[in-house]
Amino acid sequence: MDKATAKAPANIAFIKYWGKINEDLRLPANSSVSMNLSNASTTTSVEFDTKYTQDNLVINNKVADTGEIKRVSEHLDRIRKKARIGTFARVISKNNFPKGAGIASSASGFAALTLAASKAAGLNLSKRELSILARLGSGSACRSIPDGFVEWKKASSSEGSFAYSLFPANYWDIRDLIAIVGETSKKVGSPEGHALAQSSPFYRRRILGMEKKVKLLKSVLKREKFTEFGELLEEEAINMHLVMMSSIPPLFYWLPETLEIILNIRGWRENGLECYFTIDAGPNVHVICKGKDANKIKSRLIALKGVKRVLVNRPARGARLI
Ligand code: DP6
Repeated sequence: MDKATAKAPANIAFIKYWGKINEDLRLPANSSVSMNLSNASTTTSVEFDTKYTQDNLVINNKVADTGEIKRVSEHLDRIRKKARIGTFARVISKNNFPKGAGIASSASGFAALTLAASKAAGLNLSKRELSILARLGSGSACRSIPDGFVEWKKASSSEGSFAYSLFPANYWDIRDLIAIVGETSKKVGSPEGHALAQSSPFYRRRILGMEKKVKLLKSVLKREKFTEFGELLEEEAINMHLVMMSSIPPLFYWLPETLEIILNIRGWRENGLECYFTIDAGPNVHVICKGKDANKIKSRLIALKGVKRVLVNRPARGARLI
């Protein structure tokens, strides 16, 4: 087969990846834990054909810009090398959510690209090999390969750093309600952001505590303790954003609306409606709650000024061929 299509979910990290020990290999400074999202995914078709004289890439019905083509071509090179082919490809990719707004489009994008392109190139890779390969395209993409709740291990070698499933998608009935406040692409993308992390005076302190935090989160997940889980993922999001805001130069991904939502969530919680927030490299707020509270929280979020829409996500399976 020289053509294949794959669909991969975005994921939301409860323990975040921010800072690398090796930029080329995208080896993270710490392990991370995430959940795949049911309602934010990328579908990508890859066709290798000798009729193409260069790689071409269409994202959301538009011809991609040179930066995007370069990053995708470099990833295709990794796959061509493994498959020992030299053919160029046509790649057509579609997200069902806004690009570059703090929903990891690079995660779902590179996970779908890795699976579709490796299949189209004639490779039959294991989940572990796919996760390692996806990681080289975008770190968080390695977490979109396995199912459900996922851990990405830090390691000092490329072969050692991959993601695997901790629990399947149906393990825990929780939701990630993404309150969208901004749909424009961010000014500083994740690759540049990661490189700045070390300039924060708080970075080293953060990294020192990470493996303990990962262990704690996994134990809370295992025991399904929602309150402990929420408090921990919220503390972790604030911790990462403090590193971002104290980098030199500083990175402010939040908008005024972001803080407005955070303050509301705290108020709702004081009144007995349990939900917690986490935020990636963008202004949108991921509100984590139990399934039974999702409808109520969704209507409250929509009623807030500045919230354009709310995407409701359940835990989801990882990347698959379609
Ligand atoms: C804030 O995976 O987008 O979402 O490896 O450079 O492509 P690159 O970075 P990327 O970084 C994700 C950062 C984050 C936190 C997380 O998802 O763990």
